[in-house]
Amino acid sequence: MTTRAVVCTGLDEPWKTEEVDIDPPGTREVRVKMVYAGMCHSDEHLRSGDISAAPEVLQAIGVPSMFPVVGGHEGSGVVTEVGDSVTQVAVGDHVAVSFIPSCGTCYWCASGRQNLCDLGMFTLAGGMISDGTYRYHLAGENLNRMAQLGTFADEMVCHENSLVKIDPWSNMKAAALISCGISTGFGSSVDRAQVKPGETVVVVGCGGVGSGAIQGARIAGARTIVAVDPVPFKLEKAKEIGATHTAASLLDAQFMLPELTMGRNADVVILTPGVLKGDLIASACAVGSKDARIVVTAIARFDQMDVQLNLFNFAMFNQTLMGTVFGSQSPRVQVPNLLNLVDAGQLKIDEIVTREYTLDEVQQAYEDQAAGTIVRGVVKFDA
Ligand SMILES: NC(=O)c1ccc[n+]([C@@H]2O[C@H](COP(=O)([O-])OP(=O)(O)OC[C@H]3O[C@@H](n4cnc5c(N)ncnc54)[C@H](O)[C@@H]3O)[C@@H](O)[C@H]2O)c1
Ligand SMILES: [Zn+2]
Ligand SMILES: [Zn+2]
Repeated sequence: MTTRAVVCTGLDEPWKTEEVDIDPPGTREVRVKMVYAGMCHSDEHLRSGDISAAPEVLQAIGVPSMFPVVGGHEGSGVVTEVGDSVTQVAVGDHVAVSFIPSCGTCYWCASGRQNLCDLGMFTLAGGMISDGTYRYHLAGENLNRMAQLGTFADEMVCHENSLVKIDPWSNMKAAALISCGISTGFGSSVDRAQVKPGETVVVVGCGGVGSGAIQGARIAGARTIVAVDPVPFKLEKAKEIGATHTAASLLDAQFMLPELTMGRNADVVILTPGVLKGDLIASACAVGSKDARIVVTAIARFDQMDVQLNLFNFAMFNQTLMGTVFGSQSPRVQVPNLLNLVDAGQLKIDEIVTREYTLDEVQQAYEDQAAGTIVRGVVKFDA
């Protein structure tokens, strides 16, 4: 069969809708009709080469190139067909996707850390995790899929380990955003930094992921939440969802924090700008208190090695610098949990979806993200 899918053919080439050939689901694979897909910044990291694996890594895992690739790794949909031996979902089930598959049996999954599943090593490019072959083809060429998914397509074929079954009454738009950005930001505050009632949290970057971090901090009981972003519109939105104060830069926040915290500074700093640069680490530590937790959520270029850090202050302030993938929580725990918080009116999603786009408008949506005119965009698929 064929499906419309949004494809990037090479470094810095635009996202473009194509009619692609798609094979039926193989063993343990599932076909999903998409309902919503969210616009996480990580797809742009792929297009710009920030997250291109080094050529020798690609060679080692037998992948000729990261391109061409079907974009999209945030999404929700309905299962329309299952291949052999599928046990986790059935036709008609509502699902959210997960950019890290969860096998359930590797060391990390078995110890309750499905966000670290060993299958994650195949997430950026290559064939299906079931057998290494490809299901999508364009003019005879095999297509990669972003994060083993490719949610910017009317129909998607993926492995059942890449899906999270959700209740049929779940808010599907919320499920799409929670499938990556919101969960990652929320978990950065709640699961990684373990924000406690009364603490002061600084969130740097107020896009989709930052919006999750701000709300995680609010729900965890933070007293002061300082949203940092150079775009005034993002700061207005941040206030609507829980930020108590705003600043245009970390330097501005550095001047505000002593007064806001009786001289103590921030207990937690979460870094969620669109692209992480090495000099932000020193600035983040500078607004941190003694014993502060600094969480690195945003993605930098894959070969970024240089970091600014005052090593003397870092040790003497007893600070902790921590990375996170998917906000350090298992997708099959976090996604249903956050959907329940949406139902309860505690987690706000509609407030951050600035605009709905058609599949043909994905490139436009990413240009709007770069211009700072949307907090999060979603693709709404035809019913
Ligand atoms: N660790 C993970 O598992 C994980 C998961 C999802 C996304 N990410 C990454 O998180 C980052 C954020 O993603 P997003 O989708 O929210 O991006 P986004 O583009 O929607 O938002 C980024 C925001 O950062 C702001 N910004 C840019 N430079 C800044 C600076 N120096 N200081 C303060 N704010 C700044 C922008 O104005 C924008 O509002 C990306 O790097 C993305 O790839 C990581
Ligand atoms: Zn993402
Ligand atoms: Zn696993």
